[in-house]
Amino acid sequence: MDDFGRGICFINDKITFVENALEGEIVDLEIIASKKKYQEAKVLNLKKESKDRVEYACPYSFNCGGCHIAHMTYEAQLKFKKRKVENIVRRYTSYKDFSIHSIFGCRNLYYRNKITLHIKKQQLGYYQKKTNQVIAIDHCLLVHPKINRVIKKINQYLKKKPLYVKEIVIRCINEDLLLWMDQDVPQDFIDYMGNVNIVANGKTVLNHNFIEDDLFGNTFLIKENSFYQVNKKQVEKLYGLIIDYVKEEPYQNVLDLYCGTGTIGISVSSYVKKVVGIECNSASVSSANKKKKRNHIVNIEFIEGKVEDQLERVKGRFDLVIVDPPRSGLDKHSVSIIKEIRPKAIVYVSCDPMTLARDIELLKDQYELKKMDLVDMFKNTYHVESVSYLFQK
Ligand SMILES: C[S@@+](CC[C@H](N)C(=O)[O-])C[C@H]1O[C@@H](n2cnc3c(N)ncnc32)[C@H](O)[C@@H]1O
Repeated sequence: MDDFGRGICFINDKITFVENALEGEIVDLEIIASKKKYQEAKVLNLKKESKDRVEYACPYSFNCGGCHIAHMTYEAQLKFKKRKVENIVRRYTSYKDFSIHSIFGCRNLYYRNKITLHIKKQQLGYYQKKTNQVIAIDHCLLVHPKINRVIKKINQYLKKKPLYVKEIVIRCINEDLLLWMDQDVPQDFIDYMGNVNIVANGKTVLNHNFIEDDLFGNTFLIKENSFYQVNKKQVEKLYGLIIDYVKEEPYQNVLDLYCGTGTIGISVSSYVKKVVGIECNSASVSSANKKKKRNHIVNIEFIEGKVEDQLERVKGRFDLVIVDPPRSGLDKHSVSIIKEIRPKAIVYVSCDPMTLARDIELLKDQYELKKMDLVDMFKNTYHVESVSYLFQK
């Protein structure tokens, strides 16, 4: 299997990536793309099935591009994710015998609290994989049931009247719904949607422009464009690992880099003396500050700006640095300032093992990777979140 959950075979010595084929299976296939160094294929006929294969009840799978490995049993999915991260770390770092410490799975479907959909030719749906054609959907097995009810409702509206909207974001937290639309919507649509929150074309047109969530006793405020983890149950697991870790060690001053709406920093703030968070998205920083006030937290400060620009400003005594960067990972300048700060430990939360491996290697002259845990936030996809613990040498 490759890192994207495709089967690998060789045809006349040319590496071929086969969508929907599992390790050990025998299939008839059709080449769908042929490049100089590799080809891509799809399965026409399964001749020998793997014991890891399951039927997946989604009519859109392999078309909408959302679920990549839904045809694997959940045990096989976890094994695949663990092996993928171990292989990447072994291949791209000096930790050649590296093994994952633990992987925390989540079996249930309907876990996502957020969905982004598009409307084209009055059809609501996901973009088809690698295109911007809309695949009309009425139900997604990954999203919260209340979001599915909203999708059905919008589809019923579209059968009768048009909506001149290109993109819709639907969020659902604790039964509360927030709909964000990129264009104005007519009043009868707003009245028809019932008791939800609606932001259209930048204006709050029904109730609020945020919804709230509780995590570890703190209330968090989530706007349509704030970063917020999509799987609540697993985020509690992920942050729980970080909290447990911080509780065990007597850390005083913590830097929370790429802090989003401050969820990690606020969750650990009661166990340390001071936390400083840095985040470039101003909506997220404003939510973070509101949460700080609302939860009466006095030992945390949020700085708005890019980590690479703001780190210089906060240089000082920090004994723990927590980083949770986007897929691109840390930039070289930030790595060198973190090394100058010389924290005792770095907790690195990552959603991309490739950039994580690169950064572990950039840090290795001063920091040793002691342990890595995986938390599966995204069942049926090839994505997995990791928490790595690095200690000063
Ligand atoms: C993976 S999210 C982590 C958010 C947060 N730790 C959480 O769990 O809710 C990455 C965050 O980094 C922010 N970001 C991306 N590039 C950044 C940069 N160069 N400097 C500061 N923040 C950045 C994004 O806006 C996003 O909120």
